[in-house]
Amino acid sequence: MKILVSDPISDQGVEILKKEFDVDIATGLKPDELIAKIGNYEALIVRSETQVTKDVINAGKKLKIIGRAGVGVDNIDVNAATERGIIVINAPEGNTISAAEHTIAMMMAMSRNIPQANASLKGKKWDRKKFMGVEVRGKTLGVVGLGRIGAEVAKRAQGMEMNILAYDPFISPERANELGVELTTVIDIVKRADYITVHTPLTKETKDLISTKDFAVMKKGARIINCARGGIINEEALAKAVKEGIVSGAAIDVFVTEPPFDSPLIELDRVIMTPHLGASTEEAQINVAISVAEQIVNSLKGLPVKNAINMPYIKPDAMQVLEPYFPLAEKIGKLCMYLIGSNYEKVEISYCGEIAEHNVAPLTLAVLKGLLEPVLGPGVNYVNAPIIAKERKIKIIESKSKTNQGYSSQIAVKLTKKGEEKIVSGTIVGKESRIVQIDEYRIDVVPSKYMIVARHKDHPNIIGPCCIILGKNNINIAGMQVGRITAGGEAIMVLNIDSEVDEAILDDIKAVSGIIDAKLVVL
Ligand code: NAD
Ligand code: MLT
Repeated sequence: MKILVSDPISDQGVEILKKEFDVDIATGLKPDELIAKIGNYEALIVRSETQVTKDVINAGKKLKIIGRAGVGVDNIDVNAATERGIIVINAPEGNTISAAEHTIAMMMAMSRNIPQANASLKGKKWDRKKFMGVEVRGKTLGVVGLGRIGAEVAKRAQGMEMNILAYDPFISPERANELGVELTTVIDIVKRADYITVHTPLTKETKDLISTKDFAVMKKGARIINCARGGIINEEALAKAVKEGIVSGAAIDVFVTEPPFDSPLIELDRVIMTPHLGASTEEAQINVAISVAEQIVNSLKGLPVKNAINMPYIKPDAMQVLEPYFPLAEKIGKLCMYLIGSNYEKVEISYCGEIAEHNVAPLTLAVLKGLLEPVLGPGVNYVNAPIIAKERKIKIIESKSKTNQGYSSQIAVKLTKKGEEKIVSGTIVGKESRIVQIDEYRIDVVPSKYMIVARHKDHPNIIGPCCIILGKNNINIAGMQVGRITAGGEAIMVLNIDSEVDEAILDDIKAVSGIIDAKLVVL
């Protein structure tokens, strides 16, 4: 498989990729060049420069995953990727501290006129009066967006004895208390804060979050910082407020158009600017490159990833518990589907024991992938499986119970098709998947690629003839399990075989006296 890296990322990430796959680095590609090239690659890694548009995504016929070495995915058409079943991942934690430190650096540089004073002195001027600054101690900092970076900025500003106001509609009062900040509204921040810093993503709701109407009521002399995304603070309105003296200064790292050579802010002395440097530290670039590379390698090997934008989030501690259950969940889904056939209308998935203490939504995706793949082929993945299931009007019911049922954790899938039901359940023993139930029968089967599952009468001389048929056809039997409820009633036989059997062999098995039904399963 081939990976294209189209923006510069740290060598340490590239090395991880190269150990497993072919990697091409081609930075600075024009849109047409990227579209012409992307068709050869299974994975694409970008920072913020490459625009991963719908056209790029559609041209990426082999694309399975797009990795963003950083937080913001506003340069990637995530909806287009999701429709095509392409996973989009990012590396949200790796540059948090760097971005928070840059915000504080910008706030201090602005407060003490450091960039202007530096430029003046290098121009051979010794002007001490002109660059009189202000202290931040005792001042009020308004933080809009109290996520990873906003919270780290708040903590650092508290260390400099600033008072913190914050606005974030998704942050609880408990979290605000824990951080020692006062939760309020944007308009209250605008009226009361000496400094305002924004740390939200750029969305429809946050575009122009601070604009003309806010500058009209802003505390006179306030200072503005944007190290999040260009456009959260309206650039024209900010430039006007600086010129009118409403705003004493602004420190901006991110712009609506980058580079911002036509921005109205570039001409203003009281506005200091950096070229999107928030995450540009050695540490952050190593962190994000390693995180994205590890996730891409995992994903291309069919393992789950921790920071998928278009899939449910898995916390690292949950991942440790859930990881072995992903292949199990897929196998249970597939096995169940082989036993009942397609066109089932309802899937009930129940999780018991330790796994039920975690967010099991990603495991449900694995079950759905297993259910759909035998019919729809390898194009089904964790991203598009729920979309496909919805399109096919398959009802999905998920339930959890922390009480274990004999195993520390168990996943059970029940399919319903026109009144008929099929149940398969499994667990993990050590690190190995085990199927422990088919319908009402208790079994203990290590699932293998090829299996024959047969229902039969619990009488002598049934299993032997089936094995003879396989032997005569040179099919090696690697394992066998029989489950029954009452002696002489009905039983189930699961044969692990080393190769596929054709319809004729299966028909011979079905013809053995006492066999009720036999199915080939290919996991
Ligand atoms: P995060 O997801 O941890 O935090 C974002 C916060 O914004 C969340 O708590 C969310 O609840 C909040 N939010 C969303 N909508 C909001 C709204 N309408 N009003 C107020 N709050 C809202 O993200 P993060 O890692 O802290 O990153 C924050 C921003 O910084 C992102 O835009 C990211 O792209 C940017 N960033 C920039 C640089 C840089 O180089 N300058 C580096 C890293 C991150
Ligand atoms: C991010 O969202 O992570 C930043 O903008 C930093 C970057 O582009 O590397």
